[in-house]
Amino acid sequence: MSTETRIPEAEVDPEFIERWSPRAFSPKPVSDKILASLFEAARWAPSSSNEQPWLFLYANTEEDLQIFRPLLVDANRVWADKVPVLAFAIARRTFAKNGNPNRCAVFDTGAAWMSLTLQARKLDLYTHGMGGIHVDKVYEVLGVPKDQYEVICGIAIGYLGDPSQLSAQLQEREKPSPRKPLSEVAVRGKFPQK
Ligand SMILES: Cc1cc2nc3c(=O)[nH]c(=O)nc-3n(C[C@H](O)[C@H](O)[C@H](O)COP(=O)(O)O)c2cc1C
Repeated sequence: MSTETRIPEAEVDPEFIERWSPRAFSPKPVSDKILASLFEAARWAPSSSNEQPWLFLYANTEEDLQIFRPLLVDANRVWADKVPVLAFAIARRTFAKNGNPNRCAVFDTGAAWMSLTLQARKLDLYTHGMGGIHVDKVYEVLGVPKDQYEVICGIAIGYLGDPSQLSAQLQEREKPSPRKPLSEVAVRGKFPQK
């Protein structure tokens, strides 16, 4: 991580560089039409055997948000409590066709979340993934059958807000982050030896 800025090392569409995960979200509601568009993007993600193992449980009403917010750890609640849409990404553990374990279910759900995220950016919205959740509580409170589904992460969705709503510490972090060098991301041939 040598730089604070985002400088691509190869030609790439700017949408990949320009996506980032803010914590300052606007309270502006996200319409049902836009929300459907995000989940529609997720729907078309590729998956092993076209299983489409992902399921997004979401809250966009105050009533539902009050149920979802306590499922986030406090370090996320300090900013995510103001977000107009919260979701949890869950993945079906087995193939519907034969009940065999689906080793790629979480990977495929990750692809769906990234589709959702890139569609969000096209519509002027942002997302922020959250591993900091009370996983056991998500199963319990949202009634997710643990034997069938794996709870992966939370997702905040909304329009960009004013960073002044954040603590000084979070304001400092409210900017796009750098990346490892390209040489550490893809290696020709065998696993690199030291
Ligand atoms: C699965 C996942 C879990 C994450 N968990 C958290 C979290 O609990 N809290 C948080 O503030 N950010 C969380 N993040 C955001 C990452 O820290 C962020 O994506 C990473 O630093 C890269 O920054 P960028 O998304 O702005 O490019 C998470 C992201 C992902 C994809």
